[in-house]
Amino acid sequence: METVAIDEINASESLKDLDAIRVKYIGKKGKLTDISKVMRHLSNEERPQLGQAMNQFKDNFNTALEAHKEKLEEQALAEKLASEKIDVTLPGKQPLRGSRHIITQIMEEIEDLFIGMGYQVIEGPEVETDSYNFEKMNLPKNHPARDMQDTFYIDEETLLRTHTSPVQARTMEEHDFEKDGPLKMISPGKVFRRDTDDATHSHQFHQIEGLVVDKNITLADLKGTLLQFVQALFGEDREIRLRPSYFPFTEPSVEVDVSCFKCGGEGCNVCKQTGWIEILGSGVVHPDVLEMSGIDSTQYSGFAFGLGQERVAMLKYNIDDIRHFYQNDLRFLSQFRGGDN
Ligand code: DAH
Repeated sequence: METVAIDEINASESLKDLDAIRVKYIGKKGKLTDISKVMRHLSNEERPQLGQAMNQFKDNFNTALEAHKEKLEEQALAEKLASEKIDVTLPGKQPLRGSRHIITQIMEEIEDLFIGMGYQVIEGPEVETDSYNFEKMNLPKNHPARDMQDTFYIDEETLLRTHTSPVQARTMEEHDFEKDGPLKMISPGKVFRRDTDDATHSHQFHQIEGLVVDKNITLADLKGTLLQFVQALFGEDREIRLRPSYFPFTEPSVEVDVSCFKCGGEGCNVCKQTGWIEILGSGVVHPDVLEMSGIDSTQYSGFAFGLGQERVAMLKYNIDDIRHFYQNDLRFLSQFRGGDN
């Protein structure tokens, strides 16, 4: 019986069949039980012999059963693994990764620089009042300099801001020198003008305003600050030059040029053979602007500057058309992945 039973075990192909074989031989109503029934008809000498033989059978049967069960389980696992196999060597699909827009990168680079010099970053509203955008910046109604910044009006007194300069007035009004110490801020953001779009003009663009007010602030502080800024942005070897200019909110007003980073000042197509590139407007804050925002101009003075972020990016990366910034063309944008790779 043992050989037959063990052959049966080894031939079974599933755990279910195996269990049926177990029941058949050693189950409650199985063959072994049947055999044990003859026990009482046997003599005293024969009984232990049969008992021993039955135990022997049971041991061998169980050993064979366990071994085959293990084999079947291993087979089942191997089949399962094979069916669920993933080929990790197949090249995956590369997800298209985004990155910050080049204008945002420039903005953050400039912010980091000024934060490092102790400036606060302040945001102002894009929908602004005539009063903050113009009047408090020393551009009263009918002032001819308003023409250069003709813009989108929402009503007589409300407009899309034409520059970030109104944030100067908003910040000065809130500032308490006793409590807050010197005022040092920059303000990045969108500005709007009724311009016809071309390679260098856009009806919407980005500026960064800067303002420092304290006792004894002079044009020399402005020059030192801007030199540091320009060298950080365009390279250690850059120099700056101040040219007299006019803005209603500064007196004196200056236009700041940086020595050409392409030719180093020799003259080339980038600097139009002059060796210098204009990058921003600035000046010493007009006393009237301080007074209109509640600051005593006999005690305090300040400097301010305003730069176009697109212009800085165009110069830094040799971009020939401002409209590239707004067209969301990945061929353009993916060239400026910055630290996002
Ligand atoms: N607001 C000026 C503009 O948009 C730029 C500017 C020039 C800002 C001189 C300043 C400044 O703060 O001092 O044309």
